[in-house]
Amino acid sequence: MYDKNLTFNNDGSFRILCLGDVHENFDIESETGRAKYLDMLKFHSTAAEMLKPDLVVYMGDICEVTAEDEDFSKYRAQIDRLTKIFTERGIPFATIMGNHDHDAKLEQPQMQILESMDMCLTHCKDKNITGYSNYYYPIYSKDGKAKFNLWFFDSNNCYPDSEVSKYDIVYPDQIEWYEKTAAKLRDENDGKPLPSIVFQHIPVIEEYQLLRKAKPHEMWKAVRGHNKLVNKWFVLKDENKGYLGEGPCSPDINCGQFESWKKTGDVKAAFFGHDHMNNIEGKVDGILLAQCKTSAFRAYTDGARPAVRLITIDENTQSFDTQVYSFKDFGLKCTCLGPIEQRITDRQSINATIAFRAAAAGAAFASICIAGEKIYRLIKK
Ligand SMILES: [Fe+2]
Ligand SMILES: [Fe+2]
Repeated sequence: MYDKNLTFNNDGSFRILCLGDVHENFDIESETGRAKYLDMLKFHSTAAEMLKPDLVVYMGDICEVTAEDEDFSKYRAQIDRLTKIFTERGIPFATIMGNHDHDAKLEQPQMQILESMDMCLTHCKDKNITGYSNYYYPIYSKDGKAKFNLWFFDSNNCYPDSEVSKYDIVYPDQIEWYEKTAAKLRDENDGKPLPSIVFQHIPVIEEYQLLRKAKPHEMWKAVRGHNKLVNKWFVLKDENKGYLGEGPCSPDINCGQFESWKKTGDVKAAFFGHDHMNNIEGKVDGILLAQCKTSAFRAYTDGARPAVRLITIDENTQSFDTQVYSFKDFGLKCTCLGPIEQRITDRQSINATIAFRAAAAGAAFASICIAGEKIYRLIKK
């Protein structure tokens, strides 16, 4: 485990590079598998060079985990090849568990491997609470005072009762642990909440407050809600930023985590993964909620538009700024996708399908009308 303190730079900045759902897998030998891996490598290396992060955070759904990988050597190889881009440059990394990292129920060996790595921050702070990657890491000033805090929460996998919610929640014992720890940090910070940001895989349900119901003329850019909201269509509210490519896949029930952040008063922003197509960001009750879309090409993507998100924290103002950079922004050449796949977004492809079907239905209707009229004339004769 990383045993040094995170410290602000001489200019008072601290830069965090967020990498959304990488979904790395064992296949780096097939032509497509290798091309996807190399495109990701190119993207992450360029981000490291251009953005010069002090810390990298993998936002969950990171690597393939399976019981067939008996000695976990393949898992280890995946983590090594992903992270060495950064560790070779002296940049430490942190991870949070995504729902797919829980799928094989092999969290313990994953955590053991992560905890054994010198440049990895990931650890399980309290083994008695739900989940694994629940921990925190303050960022210190040069004189050793904690000036800002990073929270990492395990948002678990699927809810035990799928009728109630598809995705799992952050449980009351995790929230209780957060509140107790935040109180300790507040006491150590002269009684003031220590300004913090959160990293978590599955977004809180409050993210829907960044959206509004789509009007009929906006359906071309609207997205369908997730699970219980599947019959509703949404667009981003005008005051918010980013690309909305899919309905947020949050749990269907509210676990109270967001209310706890509000009550505790330390959380300034929360950053999420899980939704591969979304880069949205906006404030709800004063807390910034921001998505990190996929930063690789393995899982469902958005053309050649995987993206990374940079967060720059300022020690003096104890505030932060955030910016998204896509694969295309860096002017990189994509080799794993065909020319059409590279250009078209999933949203555009859905719209093209709807337009094509509407045109086909219109043409079919017109043909029936013309044929009907001809038959009518023949009968009349
Ligand atoms: Fe994912
Ligand atoms: Fe996920």
